[in-house]
Amino acid sequence: MSFNIPADSPIRQPSFVYGVATAAFQIEGDIHTDGRVDSIWDVFCREPGRVLNADNGEPACQHYRLWEQDLDLLKDLGVDAYRLSIAWPRIVPARGEVNELGLAFYERLIDGLITRGIKPVVTLYHWDLPYYLEEKGGWLNRETAYAFAEYAEVVVGRLGNKVTHWATFNEPFCSSFLSYQIGVHAPGYQEPAWAYTAAHHLLLAHGLALPIMRGLAPESEHGIVLNFTPAYPATDSAADQAAADRTDIIDTHWFICPLLTGEYYAGYFDQHPELKPVIFPGDMALISQTVDFIGVNFYTRHVVRDHNDASEFVPQTGAEHTHIGWEVYPEALTYLLVKLHQTYANLPPMFITENGMAGDDHLTADGKVNDEQRVRYYERHLTAVGEAMKQGVDMRGYFAWSLMDNFEWAFGYSQRFGLVYVDYDTQERTVKRSGELYKAWIAEQRGR
Ligand code: NOJ
Repeated sequence: MSFNIPADSPIRQPSFVYGVATAAFQIEGDIHTDGRVDSIWDVFCREPGRVLNADNGEPACQHYRLWEQDLDLLKDLGVDAYRLSIAWPRIVPARGEVNELGLAFYERLIDGLITRGIKPVVTLYHWDLPYYLEEKGGWLNRETAYAFAEYAEVVVGRLGNKVTHWATFNEPFCSSFLSYQIGVHAPGYQEPAWAYTAAHHLLLAHGLALPIMRGLAPESEHGIVLNFTPAYPATDSAADQAAADRTDIIDTHWFICPLLTGEYYAGYFDQHPELKPVIFPGDMALISQTVDFIGVNFYTRHVVRDHNDASEFVPQTGAEHTHIGWEVYPEALTYLLVKLHQTYANLPPMFITENGMAGDDHLTADGKVNDEQRVRYYERHLTAVGEAMKQGVDMRGYFAWSLMDNFEWAFGYSQRFGLVYVDYDTQERTVKRSGELYKAWIAEQRGR
């Protein structure tokens, strides 16, 4: 038995890649080991009230010491690829310095994947900015983009073509809007204009690093991972449609538009001059260099209505939600992928680099986790990807978020997204029902 997915779904094509994803700070633990320095998240976790239950990067999944066992787990699941991120604070302990112990850890990891026949897909930045850079202004400081390019050069210089897909950034939306406007992510400011400056510097960093990465890993594919939350109007009134369109400017188009067209969303800064960041000549050309792929992270949608020309979220009370409170609405994934395909003529191939759900998961007395809601979530979202492919969208693969339960940022350890259950006291891993079925699904596709 495996997932129930239509027989004609294009995700059954043999070339379609199946993987799972994680991120360094969320799984590694050992935050003081082998010369790792503080990141903005370590400091944020120490600030009262920022993270639920004052949780922090310890113990996480103690993956830094249990990595070999976790690679065996990946092998057992039978995934084609594993998406991980590298912790900048393990690699560059101070600007201009390189920590060999940090590099060696990731080299062992990548080699271990290759030995097991699993393709490494690596993100260079999954939110853990070294704190010494935050002390100099973090992503508000243009210089941080240059520091990122130096870090990228060190890492890609060492691991190069061994990594099949390199991504510069994960969800720059979160490192700008959530971190500087909404304030729920490190460093936790609520200054709208700062979000746009941070966003510009993140994109600039991507653009500065990209040619360096291509030079050092000419056989790898290079891209970026973005998150999208499509907005639907609450009614069919023109005002609500306009509210949804306004929300989409930031939640869907803010990053992909300059990456693919070389310009920020048409006219946005004419209407909001107070939000415009400082853009140097040449920045937009750097930002819009060709990428080989775009990673799409998708979890839910928003429903919005107009309220005095502002957009207001409308809770979908009757609908299905996950444990973290996000609506389950897989149709929005098809809608989003088709929309991107129709909007951007030069859209490169895409991967779903994250998709999954938080569940109120518990071990039963016989040592199992029956996460039926997650099984259905995966079936429906995988089907939704196939539907988009039927409509002409070039999708190359799918990564479930996440391999295992882990540190869910401001929610700490309270939200479990894994295909594998983690007991944080014993560090025991238990494959959930969803993990067993994902494994069976992949095996079926590979004729095993
Ligand atoms: C987005 C992020 O990339 C990841 O770190 C996070 O855990 C998941 N989504 C779930 O919120």
